[in-house]
Amino acid sequence: MAIISPSILSADFCRLGDECRMALEAGAEMLHFDVMDGHFVPNISFGVPVLASLHRGIPSAFFDVHLMISHPLSYVDAFAKAGASLINFHLEAEDDPAAVLDAIEAAGCKGGMTISPGTPAEKLFPWLDRLDLVLVMGVEPGFGGQKFMPSALDKLAALKAERQARGLEFLLEVDGGVNAETAPLCTKAGADVLVAGSAVFAAADPAAVVQALAAV
Ligand code: DX5
Ligand code: ZN
Repeated sequence: MAIISPSILSADFCRLGDECRMALEAGAEMLHFDVMDGHFVPNISFGVPVLASLHRGIPSAFFDVHLMISHPLSYVDAFAKAGASLINFHLEAEDDPAAVLDAIEAAGCKGGMTISPGTPAEKLFPWLDRLDLVLVMGVEPGFGGQKFMPSALDKLAALKAERQARGLEFLLEVDGGVNAETAPLCTKAGADVLVAGSAVFAAADPAAVVQALAAV
């Protein structure tokens, strides 16, 4: 069984609360919240006030916040106060990763680090003992609905092997291009958490997709 973290980037924002509740009732254990700044990635999504509203409306939800922004350090506190459960930031961002992890810990959130397709898994190795979750991108960050890049599978396998060798316990998450076809490849390679945006929210029966992905 995989943990499912539906990416609400592909939800109908006019009905965002209902879309989140539907995903949670279908068995999603997290909600993936994609923050884009138009600088680190060539797109802009949503930010702190939207998370605060969702957290107020659904206080029990686990918010898996994925910061695709150049300066995560400046925003950790604001997202933590708004209700982030876990804060994921990119190793490729401009801030010192140690300082960002310190801020996440001080804010009382779980911490995750993310790598884009061009970054080797080994670059994460020095940070693994500080992480609750590692996120491997299956697409270039910035947009939903892209095709999965199989290079993510080798990275998942390498990170799983390293986790085992060092007796660590972080979760392995994969994001981008995850659907009924690619999800089994990801879990086989070692993914514990599957992020899925368009596969869930563009489906005729999103709840059924959440359930099917969880059973992979
Ligand atoms: C991409 C985002 C993803 C995106 C995934 O930059 O980080 O979370 O929503 O969308 P799908 O599942 O459609 O590839
Ligand atoms: Zn994401």
